[in-house]
Amino acid sequence: MDELLLLNGPNLGILGRRETDIYGLATLDDIEKSVTAEVAERGWRVTAFQSDAESELIRVLQNGYGTVGAILNPGALMIAGWSLRDALANYPRPWIEVHLSNVWARERFRHESVLAPLASGAVVGLGALGYRLAARALLEISAD
Ligand code: DQA
Repeated sequence: MDELLLLNGPNLGILGRRETDIYGLATLDDIEKSVTAEVAERGWRVTAFQSDAESELIRVLQNGYGTVGAILNPGALMIAGWSLRDALANYPRPWIEVHLSNVWARERFRHESVLAPLASGAVVGLGALGYRLAARALLEISAD
């Protein structure tokens, strides 16, 4: 069965109880369920992984070259996650960067992502809905 990676970086494991005014009330479990429902029509399976450690995310990407694509919220690794960037450069499938919050409406240090130039696209500021929209985009991109 085709497999989609759903990757979340540092501090995203506590979604639902993390600065809920900024990140909302949805948990990673809720997000995983909504992405799973979105890609079910194509028969894709979702492998969800969250880590606060950059190396762990890299390991999953390196082991995931056979997947159909990835959705990645890198959290603050967007700012200087150079090793993650190198891993993404070698990931052979389309992937989409997601941020729950509108990073451009926030502090200056969040305005630039070192990863986004490698992404097929980005969804920013739409909360948990962003993950579902990213899944939809990957379905469209991967349609033949
Ligand atoms: C975030 C935005 C990042 O700047 C922040 O470090 C996060 C969450 C978001 O989803 O809005 O951890 O990626």
